[in-house]
Amino acid sequence: MPELHLKSQPQSSPAVFPPPGSGTGKPLSVTDLRKTYGGVTAVDTVSMEIAGGEFVTFLGSSGSGKTTTLMMIAGFCEPDSGSIVVGGRDVTRLAPQKRGLGFVFQQYLLFPHMTVWENVAFPLQLRGVPKAELRRRVGETLEIAGLSAMARRRPRELSGGQQQRVALCRALVYRPPVILMDEPLGALDKKLRDQLQTEIKRIQQELGLTVIYVTHDQEEALVLSDRIAVMRDGRIDQFDTPRELFERPRTPFVADFLGAANFLPGTVQQRTPEQTLVRLDTGGLLTARPQAGAEGAKVRAAVQPGRLRLCTPGDGFCTGTVETVTYVGTLVRVTVRPAGGADTGVVRLELPAGEAPVLGEQVSLTAHPDDVSVFAVEGGG
Ligand SMILES: Nc1ncnc2c1ncn2[C@@H]1O[C@H](COP(=O)(O)OP(=O)(O)OP(=O)(O)O)[C@@H](O)[C@H]1O
Ligand SMILES: [Mg+2]
Repeated sequence: MPELHLKSQPQSSPAVFPPPGSGTGKPLSVTDLRKTYGGVTAVDTVSMEIAGGEFVTFLGSSGSGKTTTLMMIAGFCEPDSGSIVVGGRDVTRLAPQKRGLGFVFQQYLLFPHMTVWENVAFPLQLRGVPKAELRRRVGETLEIAGLSAMARRRPRELSGGQQQRVALCRALVYRPPVILMDEPLGALDKKLRDQLQTEIKRIQQELGLTVIYVTHDQEEALVLSDRIAVMRDGRIDQFDTPRELFERPRTPFVADFLGAANFLPGTVQQRTPEQTLVRLDTGGLLTARPQAGAEGAKVRAAVQPGRLRLCTPGDGFCTGTVETVTYVGTLVRVTVRPAGGADTGVVRLELPAGEAPVLGEQVSLTAHPDDVSVFAVEGGG
């Protein structure tokens, strides 16, 4: 399970460039975007508003409509309906180059015959930026990305990660109000990905950039994003901060996709303004934060493995037998087979390694009510 980064945003250092979109407050707004291919709905009424300096990620499994949404914003794909407004200007019917957005894709698409410097200078030359200004801006941008020493090399003389940083510089250099990135680290190995994630986040914060990023990697989305739009079947299931998605998932899909939640079947026994009590099919009583769902309704209670704890017998919502114990660095993954009641499968926990139980041990499990989400079972109760 990805470690959740809940740190507050560090103070950004003085921006080298003025934060793009500052003053407009809302660099990007998308309303009811729709795109179908033949009978297939790729994107279905997607709406969102993105603030200046925000790092927003489209997260979803393959085919969920992430790239199609990004391509419509970029202008490479025409929506069937809906509108796109950038910095207060409706760009829905404008050509990509007239929208003034920056792009970074999975393939670096650098010009092989040009040096790093020339690659990065290219967008400024296209825009007729005067020479002195061009030199200053290319120099600054390469400096920020740690590429100054490689300015004279050609792309084939660089590593994959360095090439991707050049591609990033090329998108940054003309200060677009919004930068769009589609799986820019997809082709790189894990270690390099981690490094460049940190790099991208640092540059984004330093320059106050507004970024829309596409990935199917939950951990990457959690590390990078101010807000994440979780996409499924062409729709946004939930658009929220990583913390909200994790702690207040609005659908079972979000609970599962972001944290591989346990789903415990049961029935709502009591609902008060303070709490929802769920009688689990395994027999125990689980207390959740107050949520919708009528008394007697069939539900699934979702709890992340990292939010379950062992407790003294009698205090928990379930007792059972430890079936597996797997050490993962400073954490231990444990599965427990609940005793009694219906067999609803094992419960998965993640504990600090120091709290590991032993195989075959009888344990009791508890969770804080705030960490328990309750979802109605469709067609039930
Ligand atoms: N040009 C096209 N013609 C027909 N169908 C398309 C086209 N482009 C995308 N689709 C379909 O639209 C849906 C969404 O595709 P999209 O590329 O947006 O998904 P994605 O979320 O980016 O997936 P991935 O993670 O695999 O890149 C898919 O079902 C896909 O098959
Ligand atoms: Mg895609």
